[in-house]
Amino acid sequence: MSPDTSILRVSNVTKTYHLGNALLEKFSKNPESNSALTALDGIDLQLRKGEILALVGESGSGKSTLAKILVGSVAASTGEIQYQGSPMPARRGKDVTRRIQMVFQDPYSSLNPRMSVGAVLSELLLLHKIVPRREVRAESIRLLNRVGMEEDALDAYPSQFSGGQRQRIAIARALAVRPDVLIADEPVSALDVSVQATILELFTTLRDELGLSILFVAHNLAVVQHLSQRVAVMYLGRIVEVADTAEIFSNPRHPYTRALIESIPRMTAEGANDGIVLEGEPPSPFNIPAGCRFNPRCSFAQVACTLTDPALMPVGPTHESACIRADELPIFSSIPIHQEEL
Ligand SMILES: Nc1ncnc2c1ncn2[C@@H]1O[C@H](COP(=O)(O)OP(=O)(O)OP(=O)(O)O)[C@@H](O)[C@H]1O
Ligand SMILES: [Mg+2]
Repeated sequence: MSPDTSILRVSNVTKTYHLGNALLEKFSKNPESNSALTALDGIDLQLRKGEILALVGESGSGKSTLAKILVGSVAASTGEIQYQGSPMPARRGKDVTRRIQMVFQDPYSSLNPRMSVGAVLSELLLLHKIVPRREVRAESIRLLNRVGMEEDALDAYPSQFSGGQRQRIAIARALAVRPDVLIADEPVSALDVSVQATILELFTTLRDELGLSILFVAHNLAVVQHLSQRVAVMYLGRIVEVADTAEIFSNPRHPYTRALIESIPRMTAEGANDGIVLEGEPPSPFNIPAGCRFNPRCSFAQVACTLTDPALMPVGPTHESACIRADELPIFSSIPIHQEEL
């Protein structure tokens, strides 16, 4: 057996929210139907040491719920998470909490507007005893340089920066406590397209230079194509496909992944294509369809797909799919996506 290279291992994790009436009205289209919402329904996933793993899927598929469970801000209903091969207790120690840091979508609301950048960084450095007091300033400057910013940012406040710079500061704050793992929940979704690429580059540099392991959550597959080593695709609380990034784009083995790839807008010789829209609404997590949960929207679905709830199965050496027809899907041909189109 090959040695376990995973830094985080998620085994059969579920998350069910039991909602009261007020919350039911907010989250359910049909409040009478069911008071239990299944946000995660049996997640198995590994984050390997030193990789960027992309987690993609439509809104409501459970990406943020999984991210929050990994950093420990939300408790799983059942299942286990291992860090460096050891199960994590329900109440995490300070050291493990420090080692797994989160970067959020909206850097403005995640940074305290009343604290200068220097104050944010020095508070963390002292609280976690990362460096002695006399080295706090030098360490803060090192952190800023690491994310592509200069010393003069120390005395400024979040409102004085652009969205991209604020996200760099939020990343510096996550790095301050010297984590091994970054969980980044849509960290570029709120940024201008022109700025997104520079922040994606920063994540690549952090992986290369610090050996960080990064789970990068994204709505959009195109964003992660040149960033991640592997991709996990989520649909309605399940991982439905996992593979190396090049493999998933060239040979997707789940109809949902195919639909996501086809929905990426792209330029062709014939002109711009706005992307093929995935048909149908995502079904409600209050009432998950019987059989394969994607079958009501799947153009390859057969009767068997309404009867069997498929598990992730190997379909190649580094490739798993939760489609019972994975071997029968036609050869996938999609127009390649070029970096400049992203
Ligand atoms: N605190 C909560 N209480 C009840 N239901 C919740 C709560 N948080 C999330 N949910 C529900 O859990 C499901 C998964 O939500 P989650 O935020 O994890 O999805 P997501 O994939 O991150 O979506 P998005 O792309 O919109 O960020 C959704 O149906 C959501 O309404
Ligand atoms: Mg989310």
